[in-house]
Amino acid sequence: MAQVSINDFQHYEIGEKDFHYLQQLVYREAGINLTDAKKCLVQTRIGKLMRRHQIDGYKSLFTLLDSDHSGKTLEMVLDAISTNHTFFFREDSHFTYLSQTIVPDLVRNHQKRNIRIWSAASSSGEEPYSIAITMMEALKTYPGVSFSLYASDISVTVLDKAKKGIYPLEEIQYMPDTLQKKYFQKGKDQFAHLVKIKNSVKELVTFARHNLLEPLQSQEDFDIVFCRNVMIYFDNPTKERIVALISSKMKKNAYFINGHSESLGAIKHPFKMVQPTIYINSNG
Ligand SMILES: C[S@@+](CC[C@H](N)C(=O)[O-])C[C@H]1O[C@@H](n2cnc3c(N)ncnc32)[C@H](O)[C@@H]1O
Repeated sequence: MAQVSINDFQHYEIGEKDFHYLQQLVYREAGINLTDAKKCLVQTRIGKLMRRHQIDGYKSLFTLLDSDHSGKTLEMVLDAISTNHTFFFREDSHFTYLSQTIVPDLVRNHQKRNIRIWSAASSSGEEPYSIAITMMEALKTYPGVSFSLYASDISVTVLDKAKKGIYPLEEIQYMPDTLQKKYFQKGKDQFAHLVKIKNSVKELVTFARHNLLEPLQSQEDFDIVFCRNVMIYFDNPTKERIVALISSKMKKNAYFINGHSESLGAIKHPFKMVQPTIYINSNG
């Protein structure tokens, strides 16, 4: 293994000008607002990326970004910057609300027979798979009703992980045993520390790369959108722009779900709040 010396770290120390360049690039391309407090984090993450790809400094990285018209270098930088923390049944009250309120409302009051759901910043798959499991359980009461689930993220790395659907066993340790047995396959021998989401769940989810700053192409409108724990990275003008784009892909009376530490309070939007973090689209 190559020796890393103290010089390697000095080498990647980020100056004001380089940080400013990255702040502007990441804001322009992904809407992510890297405040000055994130300088250290950016230095660590981009430093790691440059070391891995043997890029010898910020100047070389920026030259590469300019000349790489495939967009792969930009994708790599956005990947390194984005924070992908997530877990199964995160903010579990949303899943209770989904099965006990949203599904009955859409099926009984709006005669839905195929419920279209979008997990709009799905990270490594824990959120869409939690939605899929909740829907499979909830729809047992409604024979003849199905759902489709589209899951997107800007980061290709997390999408690859999501498509594989393999997680450390401890990620599901607090899930009821019945759900663990029904929806996950435990690894054996040297894989005993891993679990795999079963194909019966995996095949219900379509994963694709999508940048929320851009309009979503050729998708039928949705009945439910989960857009959780991503708005925190955006400033208000960006939030407003993203909510406008998302709402243009939602049916009338569709639900929009935000993370518990997020709020649409400071922006214009077409939704009616039904309870904190849960909204209904009144246009459409
Ligand atoms: C903290 S995770 C949230 C995952 C999940 N929604 C949850 O609540 O657990 C935020 C995700 O947003 C994604 N993200 C950040 N900016 C984005 C953008 N402009 N478009 C799409 N996804 C983005 C990141 O790649 C990351 O996977």
